[in-house]
Amino acid sequence: MVQLTFLGHSAFALESDGTQVLIDPFISGNPACSYSPDDFSPSTILITHAHNDHVGDTVEIAKRSGATVITVVELADYLEQQGISVIAGNHGGTIAFEGGTVKLVPAWHSSAYTLHDGSVVAPGVPAGLVVRFGGQTIYFAGDTCLFSDMKLIGEEGIDIAVLPIGDLFTMGPDDAVRAVKFIDPKTVIPCHCNTFEQIEQDRTAFKQRVDSETNATAVIVNPGDSYTAQ
Ligand code: NI
Ligand code: MN
Repeated sequence: MVQLTFLGHSAFALESDGTQVLIDPFISGNPACSYSPDDFSPSTILITHAHNDHVGDTVEIAKRSGATVITVVELADYLEQQGISVIAGNHGGTIAFEGGTVKLVPAWHSSAYTLHDGSVVAPGVPAGLVVRFGGQTIYFAGDTCLFSDMKLIGEEGIDIAVLPIGDLFTMGPDDAVRAVKFIDPKTVIPCHCNTFEQIEQDRTAFKQRVDSETNATAVIVNPGDSYTAQ
């Protein structure tokens, strides 16, 4: 069993058997998030790419909780220099963590971390995450456009696909419905929308399309709410 809590934007907390994993923990500065970084004590933090709305509060949380951060090698190297424990991987690699594994898969996007002074570090490449945890296989697509190799990712046997639908920076709803057909998961959770005005979308309309046009069922999880899968 896994409990997946949506923290707003593209940030999630997973819990199973008392073990907590954070995905893209953009908490402070996230207009959709009512939590504080202090609310979490994960053993593992998984990051899809270096953009600030995904790295979020990783350094602060990892320093306090001792969490290991798993991400793409260039970003992992940068984070290690900030004094936290990391495991670096790249597309195709599977990495074990407490309670599960993550396989890094491709994502079509850009990747760079911007410091307060505007300088950019740790570009690397973006990844999607196939997370096996609590008996579920969950695909966090990260920020990406539609690509036909999502069909290969679907061959992993995806229970839950967490897909961006905001458009502008990622897939919009039309392409996300096409992605669902490639991935063929049981459940779809939309994200990366409605955080800012530029990425407002109608999640109910998206759910109706997923439920009627694909084999999957979409679940709308509001920020602060949880979805439990067994
Ligand atoms: Ni991004
Ligand atoms: Mn993003």
